[in-house]
Amino acid sequence: MYIGPQGIVHGTYSTLLNAGRMKLNIPEQENLSGRLFVSSGLGGMSGAQGKAAYIAGAVGIIAEVDLSRIETRHSQGWVDDVSDNLEKVFVLAKKYLSLKQPRAIAYHGNIVDLLEYAVKENIHIDLLSDQTSCHAVYDGGYCPVGISFEERTNILNHDKEKFIKLVDMTLKRHFEVIKKITKKGTYFFDYGNSFMKAISDSGIKEICKNGVNDLDGFIWPSYVEDIMGPVLFDYGYGPFRWVCLSRKEEDLEKTDKAAMECIDKNRRFQDFDNYNWIKDAKKNKLVVGTKARILYQDAYGRLKIALKFNEMVRNKEVGPIMLGRDHHDTGGTDSPFRETSNIKDGSNIMADMATHVALGNSARGMSLVTLHNGGGVGIGKVINGGYGMVLDGSKRVDEILKTAMLFDVMAGVSRRAWARQENSISTVEEYNQLDNNSHVTLPVLTDNVKIENLVKKHYVKGGK
Ligand SMILES: NC(=O)c1ccc[n+]([C@@H]2O[C@H](COP(=O)([O-])OP(=O)(O)OC[C@H]3O[C@@H](n4cnc5c(N)ncnc54)[C@H](O)[C@@H]3O)[C@@H](O)[C@H]2O)c1
Repeated sequence: MYIGPQGIVHGTYSTLLNAGRMKLNIPEQENLSGRLFVSSGLGGMSGAQGKAAYIAGAVGIIAEVDLSRIETRHSQGWVDDVSDNLEKVFVLAKKYLSLKQPRAIAYHGNIVDLLEYAVKENIHIDLLSDQTSCHAVYDGGYCPVGISFEERTNILNHDKEKFIKLVDMTLKRHFEVIKKITKKGTYFFDYGNSFMKAISDSGIKEICKNGVNDLDGFIWPSYVEDIMGPVLFDYGYGPFRWVCLSRKEEDLEKTDKAAMECIDKNRRFQDFDNYNWIKDAKKNKLVVGTKARILYQDAYGRLKIALKFNEMVRNKEVGPIMLGRDHHDTGGTDSPFRETSNIKDGSNIMADMATHVALGNSARGMSLVTLHNGGGVGIGKVINGGYGMVLDGSKRVDEILKTAMLFDVMAGVSRRAWARQENSISTVEEYNQLDNNSHVTLPVLTDNVKIENLVKKHYVKGGK
């Protein structure tokens, strides 16, 4: 179910708001007004960053080397200003920061130039990320500094060896400048584009926690480790979505309204953010092509909305609807460099969860079940299982929803609970108290110090 970059706008909106709460001490009911977010990439998915920063209330500066990509986002209204002059870019940003108004500014140029300029001019950046295509860093996904986008294409096509050297040199400068910026208090996070892995692969082992390889992770957090994981995935909040198969705008409006009415905005701040998201979804012009909507929800939130929609189809208030989710979710994915990074679920050495979820969804009667490889981080680095569910208004579909929707989400929450994620444990405890015909087992927690002392006492190196 491809719905264009709308999904990543929501994901980035949630990531930025929660980064603000966690790292900048922004109160739960406030947004990022007066705060500066800097990143790079205005491409297929990264193109969401300006819009997401705007919706979250921030001033966003996004560097992009390819002018055609900037023009697309500008004509779409997802970027407000465009300039290739760094002085002008930061003057504009300063103006909107002091007015506390949101603004999305595109810098036509290389992110490394932008960051080095910010250091030279002593400009404070609140939140910093990167969304160049580092999963394909030597195949054109990452543009070397010091050359234009057109020169980069020419060198890539005719002198690969030189291109690789230029990429490595740029990664080094990029790494060094982020080190300087983070030392001044900026919060940098990897946004799931294999940026830190690319730096490590280029030979800079200083980026690895253990200084040798990526087995223990990297020195900076990925957005899933720090933000999405504990704040959203642990509870089961993930990218629930639907497509109005009638292709009618009015159906989308009716479903937006119905979904909004299903959310209790006072339950948690996550619900408050999701409520605001769906309330303003139409105004924010997020649809690209298909009449589709994304709305982060937890297990029961998704079920409630799904049953409501099926009832609306049954009553002929709207045409048929297809539900789904993407792989950037709590369940259905084994992705140790992103969705399951740094949780102790074993997904760094084996990939069985995505397959379990795909088979479970299939057995429960989902209309479409998929199992695929590579989602977001590159082939060979992840296994994903997805689903599609057509709502035809029937009672039969109600029954499928009641088991499959909960299973799909809770499988992910269970795995995170078994990995001893605190918020997942409490989510499973709450789930087990409800009458849902299923029971999720929980880990028995032990005292780590006691275990370590026991091991120290009884373990004999090379022993008998
Ligand atoms: N976190 C998530 O949820 C998520 C979701 C989707 C994709 N991703 C990852 O994000 C990355 C970007 O995805 P995409 O679909 O936007 O790719 P894309 O290739 O369409 O866009 C990347 C953009 O970065 C620009 N760029 C490259 N090097 C640059 C540099 N040095 N300075 C400035 N701009 C530069 C390119 O010109 C391009 O337009 C990928 O690695 C992808 O796997 C993450």
